[in-house]
Amino acid sequence: MKYPPKVQLVDVGPRDGLQNEAQHVPAAVKVELVHRLQTAGLRFIEVASFVSPKWVPQMADHDAVMAGIQRRTDVRYSVLVPNLRGLEAALPTRPDEVVVFGAASEAFSQKNINCSIAQSIERFAPVVEQALAAGLRVRGAISCAVGCPYEGDIAPERVGEVARLMKGIGVQHVGMADTIGVGTPQRVQAAMDAALAHYPLHEVSGHFHDTYGQALANVLACLEMGVWQFDASVAGLGGCPFAKGATGNVATEDLVYLLHGLGIETGIDLQALVDAGVFISTALGRKPQSRAANALLARRAALATA
Ligand code: HMG
Ligand code: MG
Repeated sequence: MKYPPKVQLVDVGPRDGLQNEAQHVPAAVKVELVHRLQTAGLRFIEVASFVSPKWVPQMADHDAVMAGIQRRTDVRYSVLVPNLRGLEAALPTRPDEVVVFGAASEAFSQKNINCSIAQSIERFAPVVEQALAAGLRVRGAISCAVGCPYEGDIAPERVGEVARLMKGIGVQHVGMADTIGVGTPQRVQAAMDAALAHYPLHEVSGHFHDTYGQALANVLACLEMGVWQFDASVAGLGGCPFAKGATGNVATEDLVYLLHGLGIETGIDLQALVDAGVFISTALGRKPQSRAANALLARRAALATA
């Protein structure tokens, strides 16, 4: 099997990872997390979202987080925006990229952003136009690309249709997202194929929540197709407040361990990444939800006492 020689990871921990946390996470902790991720070699970080604070209170401090980051010129900082209001609020904070987020499921679109798929595309169109005019990159997320908490299985054709609509309004890249982590490799490949009917290989990515423990298998299935860009979340944080039962994203540590094991370059220092995961997990009062991180931590502890 021939895999891509290099993989690019977006750590969505500061955004997807924290948006679902009930406890308040101070902006300073979010900023420190971003710093630790960039120190570990992450070059793509999803920092915050500019959504309604009534809908997602945890992301209300987006301005403070964006202002607090000591930026590196080789890191791309992205933020989620659901509408023009979000873009207007985000622009002064100088993101490199904005992410519009739609869904392949009508019911999830309504629950998540309070509008139909068609209305969401209408809303996104001016957002994309103005973001591109401002010199930003624009990514699109297609949620519930395999299954929906309200509608059940989602056919690949529906992913293809949203990808087609996103392409039509100028979205440069689409992320195929298994929001509730129900996908298995063949179904994920079918959803990815549907996106690839409208986007080239270098403009698609996979975003897998690990609810059923399938995320690494799904990444591998995408690597087999030549896909080389994935989202992941340090310490396996993550979830969507509007997709009940969904757990965290694939842990960045687990994914890096897999990729390095396959001889695939990521530019990421796994030990420093484990430290970033410990930092945020400690701040949240729990252990990292990453098998690789916990195994490496146990090995460190054993070496320290040997
Ligand atoms: P709405 O209520 O339909 O919007 O919400 P509205 O335009 O009628 O406005 C209602 C109120 O929200 C007004 O304030 C607006 O000013 C305000 P009020 O008059 O009541 O005081 N408002 C805003 N405030 C701040 N920023 C904004 C904004 N827009 C309106 N941008 C809306 C529509 C989209 C705003 C709402 O549904 C929302 O914020 N949803 C957030 C959903 C969300 O963040 N979900 C999680 C991220 S997506 C995800 O996790 C999936 C992903 O990881 C991929 C995957 O795993 O599938 C990406
Ligand atoms: Mg997600």
